[in-house]
Amino acid sequence: MALIIDDYLLEEIKDRVDLIDFIGEYVDLKKSGSNYMGLCPFHNEKTPSFSVSPSKGIFHCFGCGAGGDQITFAMKIENLNFIEAVKFLADRAQIEIKEKETTSYDKKIVDEKEKCYQANKDTALFYLNNLRRNKIAYSYLTKRGIDPETIKNYGLGFAENSWDGLYKYLKNKGYKDEELYNYNLISKSKNGNYIDRFRNRIIFPIIDTNKRVIGFGGRVIDDSMPKYLNTKDTIVFNKGRHLYNLNIIANESKERKIILVEGYMDVISLYKSGINYSVASLGTSLTLDQAGLIKRYADDVYICYDSDDAGVNATKRAIDILISKDIHPKIISLPDRLDPDDYIKKYGKLSFELEIKNAISYIDYKILKIKENYNIESAEGLSNFTSEIAKVLSRIKNPIEMDVYVSKIAKDYQISKESILSYIKSLNINKNKKELKKQAVSKKRVIKKASEKIFTSKRKRAEDYLIRFCMDAEENYRYAQKFISSYEFSDTRNRIIFENLDDLYKQIDSSKDLIDKITNDRGIEIEKLEDLLSIDIDKLNFSDIKDELILTIKDENLKTRRIQILEEIKSIESTRQTESTKTEINYLLKELDEINKKIQSF
Ligand code: CTP
Ligand code: MN
Repeated sequence: MALIIDDYLLEEIKDRVDLIDFIGEYVDLKKSGSNYMGLCPFHNEKTPSFSVSPSKGIFHCFGCGAGGDQITFAMKIENLNFIEAVKFLADRAQIEIKEKETTSYDKKIVDEKEKCYQANKDTALFYLNNLRRNKIAYSYLTKRGIDPETIKNYGLGFAENSWDGLYKYLKNKGYKDEELYNYNLISKSKNGNYIDRFRNRIIFPIIDTNKRVIGFGGRVIDDSMPKYLNTKDTIVFNKGRHLYNLNIIANESKERKIILVEGYMDVISLYKSGINYSVASLGTSLTLDQAGLIKRYADDVYICYDSDDAGVNATKRAIDILISKDIHPKIISLPDRLDPDDYIKKYGKLSFELEIKNAISYIDYKILKIKENYNIESAEGLSNFTSEIAKVLSRIKNPIEMDVYVSKIAKDYQISKESILSYIKSLNINKNKKELKKQAVSKKRVIKKASEKIFTSKRKRAEDYLIRFCMDAEENYRYAQKFISSYEFSDTRNRIIFENLDDLYKQIDSSKDLIDKITNDRGIEIEKLEDLLSIDIDKLNFSDIKDELILTIKDENLKTRRIQILEEIKSIESTRQTESTKTEINYLLKELDEINKKIQSF
């Protein structure tokens, strides 16, 4: 067994274990500028040369050269190896680490990811070279005010107007069709040929904080549709878990500030004018994961979306997402329906910085927006306005802050403070009632879950029987192996056994020795095998039921995937609809259709 230690776990640990708090438990830290200094715990010294940078998320000793992040610090100070340090910190942050068998399957995923990064890198370089050679594309960018240095810093490129330029290039480098298709670098045309996904588009490589290319955005240089096209989710890319430009924030920005903007061009335009701390969510509305990332890199967060209706709605949603992560954003509203890109070109950096300075608190923003909806000149309008405002204010946790706003509104709109407070109070009473209701609902869910268990037991039974037969005779196993892979088993124990049987059968003479081998060599406790071994298969004939067992497992897997797809579609549909979300939904519908056909054919 091994822990599942992936990028997300490490990110979460760094997110939740505050560097200064953690190191502060071992070292007496004093603030010095934007960093903290103290006496190095790793060598003897009398004057502090040990520095911790919260913005970079690292420590460094100028005396002995020790340095790193929370994990490195835990390893050194507690004398732990990497895995132990991860456990130690996860424990501290109350993050549950899942366990999983390390298998050739894990290694396969790591290798596959590596390959995908490499293919993306090769692709980025290919597009970059194209851009140098293509006058039209280059002048498109120049006309939009992007200089050669910015092009270089962002690794911008161009996908030629060709069906298979990239495809041929990568095939020549030895990549296989299937790989390139999975990495979403190529698509399939209607008649089944592989074609480049991005054609006749300016390319924006999306780079993670470890400086790896994980995906691409592409913008047309004419009026064709869709205007932007992005990489779909791949083994290394999940658009809800990344932000465009976070790599620059992590590696270059000295500010603990982030401005959230809508698009690639906004980020790049701001960067060119000397504001390198903006990020764009990648063609979706802001997700909770993205809000978590923002929190890691910033104390002051600004939302500066387009000022059209869609932008205002997206701002409201982003505010709620950020608040749920305890970030209290400020809002920059640009005049004349300009986006940050247009604005900075028209008015320059100084004006933009003034807009940042004049940004209003999210509460003021909400109040302003509510005001637009009511005619507060009429008594009824004013009353409705007040009750809406009370809803916003009732969510403020800090009582002093609450009092400041209540007083301010009472004064601005000549409503008595008491009446606002009594509104808020009545809302809180209702909230408590809602809480009670919620608890009742969640009880019902528990009951429902239990009944689901009974429902899923059909699958578990099929798995157990199949494994039992596979342990009974090598030929059974060899048959099953042809049709099913270990990852298709939902039960971890069954997965491990199935994974190991290939190897075990090669080592033993009789299947009687198998149990010993499984328990001794592969570390599965005998108790865990009890229910399997108690399955009585003597009266059953494997040939009669083998296909049914295999199909049941496959069928159940497809059904699970079907539910996942439906949930994905639902969640996409609840976000802002763009061309790319439409394409994504279409792909999911296609997959759904294929799955339905497969299920019916069983
Ligand atoms: N977007 C997308 N798919 C689309 C349209 C937009 O993914 N079909 C995303 C892109 O990340 C884009 C952002 O939404 O950068 C904002 O879109 P929009 O406001 O339409 O474009 P701008 O950023 O203003 O781009 P430009 O200035 O190049 O027109
Ligand atoms: Mn724009």
